[in-house]
Amino acid sequence: MIMKILTALVFFILATLVAATKSSDGAKSISHQIHLLRPQTGSGGRHIPGVSCLSWRLGVETRNIIDWTTVPAACEGYVGHYMLGHQYRKDSKAVTYEAYLYAKSLNLTEDDKNLWIFDIDETSLSNLPYYVHHGFGVEVYNSTTFDAWVLEGTAPALPESLKLYKKLSTLGVKVAFITGRGESQRSVTETNLKKVGYHTWEKLVLKDSSYSGKTAVVYKSTERKKLEEKGYRIIGNIGDQWSDLLGTNVGNRTFKMPDPMYYIS
Ligand SMILES: *[C@@H]1O[C@H](CO)[C@@H](O)[C@H](O)[C@H]1NC(C)=O
Ligand SMILES: *[C@@H]1O[C@H](CO)[C@@H](O)[C@H](O)[C@H]1NC(C)=O
Ligand SMILES: *[C@@H]1O[C@H](CO)[C@@H](O)[C@H](O)[C@H]1NC(C)=O
Repeated sequence: MIMKILTALVFFILATLVAATKSSDGAKSISHQIHLLRPQTGSGGRHIPGVSCLSWRLGVETRNIIDWTTVPAACEGYVGHYMLGHQYRKDSKAVTYEAYLYAKSLNLTEDDKNLWIFDIDETSLSNLPYYVHHGFGVEVYNSTTFDAWVLEGTAPALPESLKLYKKLSTLGVKVAFITGRGESQRSVTETNLKKVGYHTWEKLVLKDSSYSGKTAVVYKSTERKKLEEKGYRIIGNIGDQWSDLLGTNVGNRTFKMPDPMYYIS
C-alpha cells in the first residue's frame, strides 16, 4: 500500500515537472518571436535612429548601391561614429583575420612568386585624420585639400592590415601595393608606408598619367595582369573599394575592407 502511494507520488511529481518544462518552453518560443521583431523598433515601439543609415552602409559594402558621390548628409553622424568607434575596427579585423586563415591554409610552393595585392588608401593606410575634418564623406571630394593631406605623409597604418601584412611575410608571401595615388606621390607614399611599419615590398604600383580617364578597374586589372605575366601568382587581394577587387586577374581570393566614406569606380 505504501509502495503504491509512493509510486503515485513520484509519478505526480514527474508529471508536474514535465508540464512545467513544457509551459516554459512554450513561453520561450513566444518571447523569441517577439525578440525577432525588435530590431525594427526599440522597446515599446520607440524608433531607433540610424537604422536607415545602417541599411545604406550594408548596400554600399555589398555593392548593391554603386556610383554614389557622397555619403547622405543625414548619415554623417552615423558614419562618423562607425569610423571612430569600435565597429570599423572590428569589421576590419573580421576581414583580415579571414584573409590570414586562408593564406595559412594554403600549401604554398616554396619560391618567391606568391603575391598578395594590397590597396593603399583606407586599406594599408588610413585617411581618417583627414576625413574627420571633411564630414566623413559627406563633403564632395576635393583633390586640392586631399592631395595636400597626402603630401604631409602622416597617414597612420590601418592596424589590422599591418598585422596581416606582417603575418603574410612570415608565411613567405610577397606583397605588392597597387594604388590610385599618382606617380608624383611616389616618394611621399614610400616614406609614409615605411614610417608606419610597411618596411618592404615587391612592387609599389602608382597610377601613371597614361591611365588618366581610365577607371580604377581598368588600371588595376592591367597592372595585375603585368605582374602575372612576370610569373607572380596572385593568391590574395585586399582593398576597400570594389574596383580593387573586380575586373581581371583579381587573384585566387579577394577581401573587401569596410569603407562607407567614398566610392571609386
Ligand atoms: C595542405 O597539406 C596538408 C598536408 O599535406 C593537407 O592535409 C591539406 O589538405 C592541404 N591543403 C590544401 C588547401 O591543399
Ligand atoms: C577645394 O578646397 C579648396 C581649399 O579649401 C577651395 O579653395 C576649393 O574651392 C575647393 N574646391 C572645390 C571644388 O570645392
Ligand atoms: C589559383 O587559381 C589558379 C587559376 O585558377 C589555380 O591554378 C591555382 O591552383 C589557384 N591557387 C590556389 C593557391 O588556390
